[in-house]
Amino acid sequence: MNLKKTLSVALATLFLIACNHKQFVQKNNTYKNGVVVTANLFASEVGSDILEQGGNAFDAAVAVQFALAVVYPRAGNIAGGGFAVIRTAKGESESLDFREKAPKAANESMYLDENGNVIEGLSQTGHLAVGVPGSVDGMVKLHQKYGSLTWEKLIQPAIDLAKNGVRLTKLEADKLNAYRERINKVNAGKNNCCYIKDTEFKTGELIKNPQLENVLVRIKNQGRNGFYDGETAELIISEMQRGKGLISKEDLLGYESVWRPALIGKYRDCKVISMPPPSSGGIALMQLLKGAEEFNLGQYQFGSLEHIHLMVELERRVYADRATWLGDPDYCSIPKEKLLSDEYLTNRYSNIDMNGKSDSQDIKAGNVEVIESFETTHFSVVDKWGNAVSVTTTLNGNYGSKVIVKGGGFFLNNEMDDFSIKPGVPNQFGLVGGKANAIEPEKRMLSSMTPTIVEKNDKLFMVTGSPGGSTIITSVFQNIINAVEFKMNAQECVNAPRIHSQWLPDKVYVEAGAISPTVKNELQNLGHAIQEQSRIGMMANIVINEDGSLVGAPDTLRHKDSRAIGY
Ligand code: GLY
Repeated sequence: MNLKKTLSVALATLFLIACNHKQFVQKNNTYKNGVVVTANLFASEVGSDILEQGGNAFDAAVAVQFALAVVYPRAGNIAGGGFAVIRTAKGESESLDFREKAPKAANESMYLDENGNVIEGLSQTGHLAVGVPGSVDGMVKLHQKYGSLTWEKLIQPAIDLAKNGVRLTKLEADKLNAYRERINKVNAGKNNCCYIKDTEFKTGELIKNPQLENVLVRIKNQGRNGFYDGETAELIISEMQRGKGLISKEDLLGYESVWRPALIGKYRDCKVISMPPPSSGGIALMQLLKGAEEFNLGQYQFGSLEHIHLMVELERRVYADRATWLGDPDYCSIPKEKLLSDEYLTNRYSNIDMNGKSDSQDIKAGNVEVIESFETTHFSVVDKWGNAVSVTTTLNGNYGSKVIVKGGGFFLNNEMDDFSIKPGVPNQFGLVGGKANAIEPEKRMLSSMTPTIVEKNDKLFMVTGSPGGSTIITSVFQNIINAVEFKMNAQECVNAPRIHSQWLPDKVYVEAGAISPTVKNELQNLGHAIQEQSRIGMMANIVINEDGSLVGAPDTLRHKDSRAIGY
């Protein structure tokens, strides 16, 4: 461990003991050989150690994914899913889809009552909300194709963390406390698990998870069979039976993650490499970037009426397309070329009026207002050879379905809520959808996750991504235009206040400082409904300087545990 990392961990420990997050600010995040940016200091440390031991970016990503399952259980996972976008040092790119799937027994009306109305909460909490997990298979495939260190070596840090324990940061203690009653209720009768407690979690408390340690040892020894077969699979099936969930042994054995060509687009002098469907992220991001280029967004002052209004008008149209056209490409036909063609987009944006707001048509009653920001998590890695990987992974909601597998010590996702459970009825992110994203057996639910890599003049320039449900796409969009249109550096891109709009609800969400009182008035005069939002997105950004040095830019302003660690 080098001096910088030793200091970082020592400071973090001090900061935990002192419980004083405000005084802990990382300043210099420029590295020569490799850097890992995650939402959690311990996970960043694990990834950076793997790089320092000679592992490549893909090795580090596998180790981080498993470490996050231990240290960041609200979103890090072994029983969720995600996407990885990769770019090798040779400049080759592809994407890995380890998104969850609907169980074979799922059907279009599984969350509706006899009158066809949505049964509130059924797709979000409890056993029926769980999709067939993809993360372990995804990591196995990533390692098989691109890893260089042994599989065992990459799982061991997570095993050690589960065994020796992790001290809760204030953020993690607070989050566990905020969800404690819900977790206890869903898991009534399961007593010997570290996440089930009658008393408050405390900052600095040591959390050991021997059940998860055992699962991780099985994954270390047996690879995907350590999760999808044998003892772990039996625990998951028993859990499903306990709560009348749908996932069967056949579902687990049959789960396969998929390599897909990355979605590649051109924006100014950049090549943007992002995630294709079943994520909406790549297509929506490219539509937004092409709009930014067409309107020459950078001509306007950052935070001005024109800047914000234009972004909102672009976002409104892009999210309407998302709701209509996007779903699992294995189940529906997506007019990808058309949606990304210059002709279509020029026409689509042609009615944007810089002097007035356009109406979001067909606003349905019951649009939810909640846009939680921090479920899901993103991490970015670049190694000394120039390999890059951008991974967004999720349980969907914080702690997913809240169901803990008895004897396994891990949370199950609630990804089924990302389907359109009834046309026009919004999910937890307020997103609506239609036929393309309707539930079908073994189908993947549409995602907003947007792991992205950007090249400039054929050279690796940026590795980025964010959690935040529907706000992921607009956060990644703003991060990229902040760099390209507004010439911000890596950390400025991340720190800059963000806005978000998504067609429905017909609102503009703004972080503090994103708009001045004057611009707020001007936007309102154009007809925009403004709503303040405490935080939008949480970037994990890496920018590669001209001289090849790597700048890690964590989103510590919005999430104090975020860290860039490298060497
Ligand atoms: N579960 C959030 C997403 O995939 O967009």
